Amino acid sequence: MPSYVITGASRGIGWGFVKHLSEDPSNKVIGLVRNAPPTIERVKTELSDRKNIHILQADLIDNAAIKKAAADTATITSGSLDYLIGNAAYTDGFDQFDSLGGLLAKVSPEELTRQFHNFMDTNVLAQVFLYDAFLPLLLKGTAKKVMSISSGMGDLQFNRDYDLDHAIFYSSSKAALNMVNIKFGAQYKKDGVLFISMCPGVVDTGYADKILPEQVAKLQEILDKFHAYSPTSTGPSQPAESVKKMLSVLDTLSIENGDQGKYVSHTGTDRWLP
Ligand SMILES: NC(=O)c1ccc[n+]([C@@H]2O[C@H](COP(=O)([O-])OP(=O)(O)OC[C@H]3O[C@@H](n4cnc5c(N)ncnc54)[C@H](OP(=O)(O)O)[C@@H]3O)[C@@H](O)[C@H]2O)c1
Repeated sequence: MPSYVITGASRGIGWGFVKHLSEDPSNKVIGLVRNAPPTIERVKTELSDRKNIHILQADLIDNAAIKKAAADTATITSGSLDYLIGNAAYTDGFDQFDSLGGLLAKVSPEELTRQFHNFMDTNVLAQVFLYDAFLPLLLKGTAKKVMSISSGMGDLQFNRDYDLDHAIFYSSSKAALNMVNIKFGAQYKKDGVLFISMCPGVVDTGYADKILPEQVAKLQEILDKFHAYSPTSTGPSQPAESVKKMLSVLDTLSIENGDQGKYVSHTGTDRWLP
């Protein structure tokens, strides 16, 4: 009975993982959320027939809560874990449509610092503590795979080649996350635990609804750069499609094949847009 822990299971891609993986009754699916009641209700409403879903509450930046979630997971799985999917992230649109210069002109240094910590604390440091809490379980698992949801925005070369000046904190946090996965991978290779940084592609999780009129011009500039990178790209996919592709790529990756610490997209390559 393969077991999966997915962070950020409340919505977007995380909910997509819960929905897809729980289709197979032989999977045990444990969703971590920071506010459990609405997600428990959502499971009851949308997936009422699935008895293999467990929702646990833990804010990623609350280390004690993450440790408790690991202990509660051990109770559900008899002490082991096969797959850890680190999907949750601070995805606030704070820097999404601004260059660093634009941000510096707009917000106070204190606000900039606060937002830097939001991105780094959640998307980098909290992942370290998440892995640390779940590693004892992973070491007792069979698959021993950690898939960390990164982003093409963390790719240094991609940012350089297309002069991507937006989303500095988000991009930096994902680049740092990729390094975290390499470091953990280096340490746990001998124990057979695979660490992968996976970009889901561009996925429709409701961002388009939040764009302000003053952000439209910058959005168009970004889309033009993405189009130059991938002229045939057909726009955002749905979470279900991205999740299926990521899981089938994950299936093919192994330490034996030299994949430890790899940073790939849902296409299984370093192309971030198909
Ligand atoms: N969508 C895309 O096109 C895209 C592209 C590239 C990479 N990604 C990456 O894919 C992942 C999922 O993206 P998404 O679009 O599904 O994001 P989303 O819709 O913004 O959802 C973010 C999830 O993270 C959770 N979360 C945030 N901070 C948390 C914390 N401190 N503790 C616990 N949970 C927390 C949120 O929980 P609440 O519901 O409680 O807020 C939510 O479940 C992220 O890592 C993102 O960077 C997405």
